[in-house]
Formats: sequence, structure tokens, C-alpha cells
Amino acid sequence: MPSSSLRPPLPRFAPPTPNGAAADSPRAIDDPAVLVRADNLQVHFPLHKGVLQRPVGVVQAVDGLTFDIRRRETLGLVGESGCGKSTTGRALLQLQRPTAGRVTFEGTDLTALSERALFPFRKHMQMIFQDPYASLNPRMTVGDIVAEPLRTHGLAHGQRALRRRVQDLMTQVGLDPRYIRRYPHAFSGGQRQRIGIARALATNPQFIVCDEPISALDVSIQAQIMNLMQDLQEEFDLTYLFIAHDLSAVRHISDRIAVMYLGQIVELADAEALYDAPKHPYTQALISAVPIPDPEVEAERTRVVLDGEVPSPVDPPAGCRFHTRCPALKANPSLRTRCTTETPVLREVKGDHQVACHLYDTGPSHELPPQAAP
Ligand SMILES: Nc1ncnc2c1ncn2[C@@H]1O[C@H](COP(=O)(O)OP(=O)(O)O)[C@@H](O)[C@H]1O
Ligand code: SF4
Ligand SMILES: [Mg+2]
Repeated sequence: MPSSSLRPPLPRFAPPTPNGAAADSPRAIDDPAVLVRADNLQVHFPLHKGVLQRPVGVVQAVDGLTFDIRRRETLGLVGESGCGKSTTGRALLQLQRPTAGRVTFEGTDLTALSERALFPFRKHMQMIFQDPYASLNPRMTVGDIVAEPLRTHGLAHGQRALRRRVQDLMTQVGLDPRYIRRYPHAFSGGQRQRIGIARALATNPQFIVCDEPISALDVSIQAQIMNLMQDLQEEFDLTYLFIAHDLSAVRHISDRIAVMYLGQIVELADAEALYDAPKHPYTQALISAVPIPDPEVEAERTRVVLDGEVPSPVDPPAGCRFHTRCPALKANPSLRTRCTTETPVLREVKGDHQVACHLYDTGPSHELPPQAAP
């Protein structure tokens, strides 16, 4: 949700040295508005085969992402299943160590830290999962589930204070604190997601990766959880990376949206700009598939249907990874050599609207694809 620019900046927990660099970081904090930064982030998984587990290739799950997440903003991250969203979220939190590139948190390079040096940072970065049931230990009471991060990080000062803190957290997420001794199975799906949110909030984090937090919930419950997350963001100055597989789910909660395809970001822009004037042919196709409530407008619209399947991240197409399915390339055959050999770089084409597509390279103009009707 849009955040107020009038609020004072939050205090940094890593005191800056006189030259402006964080004490334990080789890099300068160049923009205090940025909380998390990915620089050329890459996560490749080795692929093994057979009983001997011979290495036969690599899954290029995340392949060279560069983007910022600003304090108190919600950055939406969307793309089809398997395009690398969860891996990106986990890599930002260092739950999955990247194979190359860097993640900085308040100017500190997390990728350079040992597990031990990373530990104090972990309480500032939490995660909310898609399936609250799978992510909650069924043998622990709600009280113990929510208290666990407090114990892990040494934030529990005596049984009574711990209990009070857990009950406060339960109240904050709309759960009755009298249920502290109940087990997850006694709660509904929406209530279980509230437990997951309370656990994520326990350590007072600044940054939360929300990995499809409403996808598994009944439609009637989704809005309640979205509203709760927005209220908590306001109250606790939270910064969210909000992952979803379709654009309609992130539109209203996001300040900016990044669109991923096959391990790469193809477009990143303000939520409004992305919807009203999508520039990348893939984003245009996604937006053309978002249903519009007005049946007349809906009937008038042309849906862009993409040819073929998403290629495998083990053997992605050369050049632009989208070239095997791109409708704009069909309309601009002169781009073929370039699109099939040169990887387009994500760069600003209008204000801070970023696109990775050769259509927007400077030089001879091409026939730009029509923009999807809003
Ligand atoms: N631990 C892992 N080992 C091997 N491959 C993985 C692992 N985790 C994810 N992948 C692969 O990486 C790609 C991206 O996965 P993921 O980040 O889960 O995508 P998304 O969240 O967008 O659905 C997929 O091809 C997936 O199969
Ligand atoms: S770079 Fe070429 S193939 Fe890729 S999206 Fe742009 S026009 Fe299509
Ligand atoms: Mg996922």
C-alpha cells in the first residue's frame, strides 16, 4: 500500500561509520530509502540423475535479478508457477544461499556473512507461507509456535512476560488469546494463517516475505487476511515482498510490481503504471488475462494467448528467454537475430518504469505491441 512520505526514517540497527558505510559492510549505504537490495542475484540448483546421482545440468531458478525494495513499501512479485518467485524470496532471506550475486539489507551484504554473523539479522526478516497448515508444527500449541522465534532470538524474558507477549501478538492478528493452548488443527484455514502471521511478527521484523499467503484460502477469507496484513504494515512500518502467481492478487496491495519469467525480471514499475500501460509483451499477455468485472468491457477485450509452454529452466532459450512465445517478435521479424542471441537488460524506459525487452532499445523504432486495455 502507498506509504506516507512524511514519516521520519526508522533508526538503523547497524550504526553507520563516519564515511557512511555500515560497520560490517564493504558497500556504502547509497540510498536510505532502500531496505533490501538484490544485485545480480542468482540461484542455480544442480540437477542429478540416476542411482549414481550424476550431475546432468543446472536448474537456473533465479538468474540475475537486480532490484530494490524500499522501506515500508509492498513490492509485488508475480509470474507463473516455477518461474523462481519462492526461490527469490528465500534467497533474499538467506534461507537459500545464492550461487552468485549479492543481497544487501540496510547496506550490509548478507551474502558475505557466515551463518553465525547472519543470525542477528534473521530476526529483522521473516516469512509468511502459502500453506499455513504445512508450515505450522501440528504437535505444538499456538502459544509455543508463536513463542518459538522469541526463544530462538533470546527475546523472551521470563515465562510471564513471554506469555503476555504471545497473547498480545494473538490479539494483534485477531485471534482470541484464550486459545493459546490449542493446536493448529483446531483452527480454520484463515485462523491458521493468522497464527503464521503472529509468528512472523514476534521478533518485530522490518521485512517480511509473503509467499502466496492467500492462495490457499477461501475467497471469502482472502480479503480479511489482506486487510490484516495492510493494517499490520501501517502499524509496524513493515516492508513486504508479496509473491503471487496472478496479477489481480497483488494489484491493490502493491506499491510497485515486478514481473518474472523463467528466473528473470522482465518488467518492474509502479502498480498503476504496470496495469495501465504494461510495456513488456509478457506482462501485456498476463494483464489481458485478468478478468474485468464489467461484462461489456470484458466482451470487447482481446486476450493475448501465448503460444506453447514455458520452457524448462534447465535449458532456457538463448537471448531473450521469452522469444519462443513472444507475440511482439512475430510482428517485428527484423528483431529476430537480436531477440534470439542478445539477453535484454532490465532498464528504465520511462521514469522508473523498467523493462527488459529489445523493443525499447534505442535505435530504429519498431512496431510496439498494443497496450493491453485496462
Ligand atoms: N531445492 C531445489 N532443488 C532443485 N530445484 C529447485 C529447488 N527449488 C526450486 N527448484 C526449481 O526452481 C524453479 C523455480 O522454483 P520456485 O522458486 O519454487 O518457483 P515459483 O515459486 O515461482 O513457483 C523450478 O523449476 C523448481 O522446480
Ligand atoms: S526482447 Fe524480443 S522476444 Fe523478448 S520480449 Fe522483447 S520483443 Fe519479445
Ligand atoms: Mg512458489
